[in-house]
Amino acid sequence: MAIITNAPRGTQDILPSESYKWQYVQKTLLETANLFGFEEIRTPTFEHTELFLRSVGETTDVVNKEMYTFLDKSDRSITLRPEGTAGVARAAIQNGLVNNALPLKLSYMINCFRYEKRQKGRFREFNQFGVEMYGANSPIADAEIISLARECYNVLNIQNIRLEINSIGCPECRKKYHEALKKYLAENKENLCGTCHERFDKNPMRILDCKEPKCKEITKNAPLMLDYLCDDCKNHFEEVKTLLDSANIEYKVNPTIVRGLDYYTRTVFEFICKDKDGDDIVAGGGGRYAGLLQEIGGQNLEGIGFAMGIERILMIMEDQKTDFPEKQTCDVYIVPMGEKATVKAFVLANSLREEGFFAQCDLLGRSLKAQMKYADKIGAKYTMVIGDNELENEKAQLKCMYNGNITEISIGSDFSDKIYEVIMESSYAALADAAEQL
Ligand code: HAM
Repeated sequence: MAIITNAPRGTQDILPSESYKWQYVQKTLLETANLFGFEEIRTPTFEHTELFLRSVGETTDVVNKEMYTFLDKSDRSITLRPEGTAGVARAAIQNGLVNNALPLKLSYMINCFRYEKRQKGRFREFNQFGVEMYGANSPIADAEIISLARECYNVLNIQNIRLEINSIGCPECRKKYHEALKKYLAENKENLCGTCHERFDKNPMRILDCKEPKCKEITKNAPLMLDYLCDDCKNHFEEVKTLLDSANIEYKVNPTIVRGLDYYTRTVFEFICKDKDGDDIVAGGGGRYAGLLQEIGGQNLEGIGFAMGIERILMIMEDQKTDFPEKQTCDVYIVPMGEKATVKAFVLANSLREEGFFAQCDLLGRSLKAQMKYADKIGAKYTMVIGDNELENEKAQLKCMYNGNITEISIGSDFSDKIYEVIMESSYAALADAAEQL
């Protein structure tokens, strides 16, 4: 029987000791995309299953093996989104966003669901930051998207991340390639895994993305799509490379990248980083897609985008010991002694928050000692004890927990006018003390 206090396999809780890092990464990524003109869109966690069948593709692992699909109470087939591109395209069409000024640029921060085998960096519920741009067909759009992805890793100070790019052509040149690939695979057809056996006729290029070792071995020397590009696709790819060169964005052409989703045409790319064990972690990926919008009932508009896994980014940042902004801790903890003082502490804490300070006060009627211990535990920068004397004189002592310095402060009607000044002055003094000790 499942233990109900254990989260389902492949999911995780983000605890307060970590959530501030998530907030920082997510805010930074959305803001970076905003500098490039991308605005956030939020779409539902689940969509009609058909949307993913038509876009991600029925022969992909994602659709075939990994989707969380169920019938709702009205017998509609519903799927928890395994990725963001399909839902964002659906929303852009449904809400007429693609009928306005183009290119349309959208960003998103979403949770996704894939029933994957448990492995390092692979979760069944995971989070993606992504962007999609519609209506820009020229190679400069590819270069801009790649340059935004690069910038995202840069602003987070992630080191040693390599960019690998490829072109997987268009449906026209892919026909010729599929023929060549089938010819190559034909003699080993019977040795392919069951799924790839089916893919052989339906979508042979998918076989190159199979995770089964025996299929990997068979496809090791398979012909490469890059050698079968038509002139238009070839020129497009050459221009993308020239633009990346001119922006000093380093890359390697990796002709084996096919990506795990069916909608891609022409440029595809991945950002890869070594983790602390020396294993490759794909931190993000994306590419261009020409037919997706039409396939799901929209207009004939091309799109291009990428997505990166937040769990993987955080894992890499932890591995690389990247600095995070300090976790915000309590500025002032008010320690009331007695009932009247508790009410006063409650009121003063509210005035502190109105001034923008992080303030807390005792809610449990604890002893002075217990409250001071708690203030210390939560890392309060200042404490202020209020008892009968303080209430009578309308004055209290603000104690800096770092250096023990004490400043007297009015807790009367001018409290909120004065507190900002006092805390600022006192924290400068604490900083000066710290500098002197260095
Ligand atoms: P994807 O390569 O399937 O592409 O996923 C993008 C990123 O999400 C991966 O590079 C990885 O960092 C993260 N990711 C994927 N699966 C998992 C998992 N099970 N656990 C943790 N992280 C994971 C897409 O999803 C496309 N929609 C990207 C795109 C946007 N292409 C064009 N526009």
